Amino acid sequence: MNGLGQVGAAKQFVGKTVLVTGAASGIGRGAALAFGSQGANVVLADIAQEAGEAVAAQIRAEGGQAIFQRADVANAHDVEALVATAVREFGRLDCAFNNAGIEEEYERLADSDEALFDRMMGINVKGVWLCMKHELRQMLAQGGGTIVNTASVAGLMGAPKHAIYAASKHAVVGLTKSAAAEYGKKNIRINSVCPGVIRTPMLERALERDPKWEASLIGLHPIGRLGEVDDVVNAVLWLCSDASGFVTGHQLAVDGAMTIV
Ligand SMILES: NC(=O)c1ccc[n+]([C@@H]2O[C@H](COP(=O)([O-])OP(=O)(O)OC[C@H]3O[C@@H](n4cnc5c(N)ncnc54)[C@H](O)[C@@H]3O)[C@@H](O)[C@H]2O)c1
Repeated sequence: MNGLGQVGAAKQFVGKTVLVTGAASGIGRGAALAFGSQGANVVLADIAQEAGEAVAAQIRAEGGQAIFQRADVANAHDVEALVATAVREFGRLDCAFNNAGIEEEYERLADSDEALFDRMMGINVKGVWLCMKHELRQMLAQGGGTIVNTASVAGLMGAPKHAIYAASKHAVVGLTKSAAAEYGKKNIRINSVCPGVIRTPMLERALERDPKWEASLIGLHPIGRLGEVDDVVNAVLWLCSDASGFVTGHQLAVDGAMTIV
């Protein structure tokens, strides 16, 4: 937490079960902690077991409800078992934040690597698709729910030297729009958040390659700074809450105006 404050002072997720993928680090970690502090039963998933267990333990230590399950979102068996655990432990699945993703690409398309393409598509696209598929089955059975997928500004515009990543995030936008149209009348809302550059361990790893890059990244954001985890978390909580009840199929840029210039 960075002191930006969270949407809604009240514990608006009491009694709700919320699934968060990529919950061991960065945006997912921040979202899991925020949902936990607002009364949700939080089901955390990640491939990073120790760090994920630690976030769940922090939520419980602060008086919240949380369990961690190791799950690779690119693995159908893991994802099916994850949703089954949420339902077995807490009876239903009200909200899902499909956020796990990777970004490890720094080459022009002609030089990029087939194995990286398969890995990125497997996690960023198939992972979101698998999660939505199993979450939607549960939400249909119980009569409603909300889903938020983490896309990116790279899901809304081109990203030189990150073409595979941009393609994967455009695909997340496509999944979000299509499913929102399919399930609108089933009381299920589905939206994406499209973060600009956010200070997370993912960014720290990128900056290790070239610390001077930070100034040019800040320069991409007309608001004059990079995003913080809570900037994205606040948008996710709003999209999951009843306050956004007429918002579905939307790609919410949380980007300090990066995509308007
Ligand atoms: N940080 C940014 O600037 C930024 C900008 C736009 C979009 N995003 C997106 O936000 C999401 C979260 O990114 P972050 O910055 O918090 O990154 P992060 O690296 O801090 O956290 C990502 C988490 O996802 C987990 N993960 C990776 N592969 C997984 C898999 N196969 N199954 C389950 N978990 C897996 C990682 O272990 C990690 O805990 C990603 O989808 C990323 O593409 C980030």
